[in-house]
Amino acid sequence: MATHKILLLPGDGIGPEVAAEAKKVLKLFEEAGYGSFETETDLVGGAAIDAHGKPVTDAAVALAKDADAVLFGAVGGPKWDKVAYEIRPEAGLLRLRKDLGLFANLRPAICYGALAEASSLKRDLVEDLDILIVRELTGGVYFGEPKEIVTLESGEKRAVDTQIYTTGEIDRIARVAFDLARTRRNKVSSAEKRNVMKSGVLWNQVVTAIHAKDYADVELEHVLADNCAMQLVRKPKQYDVIVCDNLFGDILSDVAAMLTGSLGMLPSASLGAPDAAGRRASLYEPVHGSAPDIAGQGLANPLAMIGSVAMALRYSLGLGEAADKLEAAIGSVLASGARTRDIAPAGANAIGTGEMGDAVVAAL
Ligand code: NAI
Ligand code: MG
Repeated sequence: MATHKILLLPGDGIGPEVAAEAKKVLKLFEEAGYGSFETETDLVGGAAIDAHGKPVTDAAVALAKDADAVLFGAVGGPKWDKVAYEIRPEAGLLRLRKDLGLFANLRPAICYGALAEASSLKRDLVEDLDILIVRELTGGVYFGEPKEIVTLESGEKRAVDTQIYTTGEIDRIARVAFDLARTRRNKVSSAEKRNVMKSGVLWNQVVTAIHAKDYADVELEHVLADNCAMQLVRKPKQYDVIVCDNLFGDILSDVAAMLTGSLGMLPSASLGAPDAAGRRASLYEPVHGSAPDIAGQGLANPLAMIGSVAMALRYSLGLGEAADKLEAAIGSVLASGARTRDIAPAGANAIGTGEMGDAVVAAL
C-alpha cells in the first residue's frame, strides 16, 4: 500500500479549525484503502513565533521538503501585528514558497450549482463553472530589481518596480498549464499585455513556441490580460486553463474567485519543479486568511481547506479518483442544503465547521 507523507501546518486563527476537518477526510481515505497517510503536524506563523521566535523553523522547512504534500491552514492575526517585519507570520509562508521553489500557483474557480445564487453573476453564467488559473508565483514585478523609491534632484520622489521574466521562467509555467489542460478540457488561454509590455512579447513568443513543439494537441489562445478580466465577468465558461504572470494572475484569480461565492470555498495549490524522479514540492492551502473575527467559534467554512485536500490528492498523491469523489461529495453536501454561515442566505440556519466536515465525510 502506498505511503503518503503529509505535513500539516495548521497555523493561526481558523487555520487549526479547518485543518482538523482536512484530517477527518484523510483518515477516511486511509480507511477506504487509498494508502497510508503519514501525517506530521508542525507550527507556522504566529504559533511558531510564540514557540520559537520565528514564523517557520528550519526543521519545519526540512519536513516540508521531505513531504509528498504540505497542507497549510492560514497565518496571522492581531496578536502578531507588532512583531518585526522580517519575522511576521506571513514571512513563514513566503519562506516555504521560496525554499520549496513553488513557482506555479493553481487557483481553481469552481461554482457548485447549489451556490450559483451566491455569485455576483447570473446563475446561467456561473452554474457548474470550473476554470483554473495558473499564476507564475516567484518572478515578475513583485520581485524584479530595481525595486525602490528614490528622491530626485528636484526633490520629487520616484518609485520603481521592475517586471522581469526569462524564457526559462515562462517555459516552466506554460508547461504546467499545458499539462493541466490535458487532464481537463484541453484548452489554454495565455494572458499577457504584449501590446504594451516587452515581457508580454516574450511571454507570447515562448508560449507559442512550446505549444508548437510539445503541446500541439492542446487548444491555445492568446488573450490580452485586460480583455481577459472583462471576459471573466462577461462569459467565464469560455475558459478552461488561464496562464499568466504573477501580477495579472493575482488580479485575475481574485476576479474569478468572486464568481463562485465565498472566500470560504476557495482552495489553491502551489507547485515546484519536478525532480528527476518526477516528484515535485507542493503546498496546498485555502485562499482565505486566519479570519480572526470568527476564530475559535467553530463558524469557519472548512470547504476551502477540504478542496485543497482534493487538489493534493490529484496533483501530488496520484489519487485523482479520490479527488473526484471528494469534490463530488462537497457538491452533494451543498446540494443537500448544508451551509456554514458565510454561504448561508441571510436568516437561514447555518451549521458549524465540524458539522460541515462531518457532512462531507458522510457523503463520501
Ligand atoms: P481573511 O481571509 O482572514 O478574512 C476575510 C473575511 O472573510 C473575514 O470576515 C472572515 O471571517 C471571512 N472568512 C475567511 N475565511 C473564512 C472561512 N473559511 N469561513 C468563513 N468565513 C471566512 O482575511 P483578513 O481578514 O484580511 O486577514 C486576517 C488575517 O489573515 C491577517 O492577519 C492576514 O494577514 C492573514 N492572511 C493570511 C493569509 C494566509 O495565511 N495565506 C491570506 C490572507 C490573509
Ligand atoms: Mg490577491
